[in-house]
Amino acid sequence: MNLSRLQTRNEHRVVLRAEGVWKSYDDGAIAVLKGVDFEAFEGQTIALCGPSGCGKSTLLHLFGGLDAPDCGQVSVNGVEVNRHCNLLRLLRHEVGFVFQLHNLIPDLTLEENCLIPTMAAGMDRRTAQARLHQLAESTGLTHRLGQRIQKLSGGERQRTALCRALMNRPKILLADEPTGSLDEQTSGSVFALLLEIVATEGVTLVMATHDRSLAARCDRQLEMHDGRIDEI
Ligand SMILES: Nc1ncnc2c1ncn2[C@@H]1O[C@H](COP(=O)(O)OP(=O)(O)O)[C@@H](O)[C@H]1O
Ligand SMILES: [Mg+2]
Repeated sequence: MNLSRLQTRNEHRVVLRAEGVWKSYDDGAIAVLKGVDFEAFEGQTIALCGPSGCGKSTLLHLFGGLDAPDCGQVSVNGVEVNRHCNLLRLLRHEVGFVFQLHNLIPDLTLEENCLIPTMAAGMDRRTAQARLHQLAESTGLTHRLGQRIQKLSGGERQRTALCRALMNRPKILLADEPTGSLDEQTSGSVFALLLEIVATEGVTLVMATHDRSLAARCDRQLEMHDGRIDEI
C-alpha cells in the first residue's frame, strides 16, 4: 500500500463508535437514548448539541464507560467499552473527562489533583511531574500549582480540570458543558484554550454544549433529537 493511501486511511480512523445504543432510567420509564449511531474520527472536534434533558450527559457517560447502555455497543479504538476487563484501562489511559462543575477535590492543590490520575495509571513520578509542568504552562497555571482548588477562580478551576483530564495522554477528551459554569468572556477564553490544546495534542474532542457559538467552532455539530443524533 502506498504512503498517501495509508495517510488517508489514518485521517479517517474511527476512535469512538456507538452502534444502536439505547438507554433508559427508572426501569424504562424515562427513555433517553433510542438507537444512537455515532462515529468520531481521530483528531476531530465534535459538538453534541441539544436542549437540557435531551441526553447529552447520558451519552458522554456511556462513551467513557461511566455507565452501560441497555443495549447496543460503544467501542473505543475498536475495543468494546463495557467489557469489565477493558474498563479500567479505558478510564485510566484512553479517555479524559471534563465536567461542567470541575469535580476537583477542593482541599487539595492543583498539583495534587492532577497527579492523582497518573498514580492510578502507574506513571512514574518524574514523567508525571514533567507532564504536569508542560500542561500547566500551556494553560497558564504554572504560578498556581501549589494553590488549593478552593482558592482558584472559576476559569482556573476549569483549566485545572482540563490539565487533569489530559495528564495520562488520552486520545479522546469527553467534555460535558466544560465552560457552562463560567461567564461569557471566561467561557470564550477557556474554550479557545481547550481547542488549542486538543489540536496540539491530536486529541479527539466530543463536547456536550447548548452554546451554539461554541459549537460552531468545532469541526462537526451534532444535534440530539428524540433520543438519536442528527448531523447538522
Ligand atoms: N440517574 C438518572 N436517573 C433518572 N433519570 C435520569 C438520570 N440521569 C439523567 N436522567 C434523565 O434523563 C434525561 C437526560 O438527562 P441528561 O443526559 O442529563 O441530559 P442533558 O445532559 O442533555 O441535559 C433527563 O430527563 C434526566 O432527567
Ligand atoms: Mg448534561
